[in-house]
Amino acid sequence: MVTCSAPGKVILLGEHAVVYGKAAVAMAVDRRIRCTVKKKAEGVTEVNGFEINFKHHSYILEACELIGIDEPLKIDTSSELHSGAGLGSSAAITIATLGALHEFQGDKPDKETIAKEGFFVEGKVQGPASPIDTSTVTQGGAVILSCDVLKNHLWSIKKDDRTWNIHSTPVPDMTIVVGYTGVHALTSGLVAGVKNFYQKNTFARDVVDEIGELVLEGISAMEDGDLNMLGELMSRNHKLLKILGVSHPKLDSLVKASLRYSYGAKLTGAGGGGSMIALTDKPEKVSEVISKKGGLPFILEPAGSGVKVESPR
Ligand code: PMV
Repeated sequence: MVTCSAPGKVILLGEHAVVYGKAAVAMAVDRRIRCTVKKKAEGVTEVNGFEINFKHHSYILEACELIGIDEPLKIDTSSELHSGAGLGSSAAITIATLGALHEFQGDKPDKETIAKEGFFVEGKVQGPASPIDTSTVTQGGAVILSCDVLKNHLWSIKKDDRTWNIHSTPVPDMTIVVGYTGVHALTSGLVAGVKNFYQKNTFARDVVDEIGELVLEGISAMEDGDLNMLGELMSRNHKLLKILGVSHPKLDSLVKASLRYSYGAKLTGAGGGGSMIALTDKPEKVSEVISKKGGLPFILEPAGSGVKVESPR
């Protein structure tokens, strides 16, 4: 029996624009998904006691297919993340499963290989996307995606005519409060909505460019540990995401309420519901206002480790 885990993540800056080759910054957080794999004597592979099927286990099924599993397995997962909350649960389940399947087979792939496999699996399930989630939860810490090669380069991922370069970046001492709206929204639909706007409207392309520029400022703010600047950029990023049409009244209300006690706040991930994040040194106060406005708050710290074998073969 083997167990592997991967953390959730928050996108600090640059979601959606990253799909168009702009830089983005994400950070792994201290809530994880675990995947345990063991041999099953006969029959078909089971996930959490149910026969594996695409409807409920799409990421796990695609991961098994990619790795070329040809024997029945008993796969069990447990999660400290809300699925649909924009905290990278699909990436974490994909990467934890890939890690566990490799370990089960006795392979020792490096993080680059797992991140690339995870990107492939996520793409098969969700359609076109960037590798931000899968690379962040594989690597851990804070990660920058950019078309340019920057310092602390880790690996590059190519798809069609785009190459994303993945980098690590230092994580300042910081606390994030997440406010989950409870509204479930599909990443694929939101990405498709932005694509439609982007293709038809030069204004949308200007907004995407503006997000790209503020992310570059955000990278410097992270390096300098300048939380005031980082927070201000996060709030500006939220306004631009709102213009792109991916916010939600509940997100806007939680962002607005949090600002009183935060350096800055924004939606995180695909939007349309899901979660917002606030950068703060008053996490209890921010949690309180999020609860008052009907959101579900949780306080997160950065997670240093990415994909991790917890029980080896
Ligand atoms: O909702 P999440 O955590 O899957 O984030 C999606 C991020 C997007 O930029 C909207 C899409 C992507 O693939 O980069």
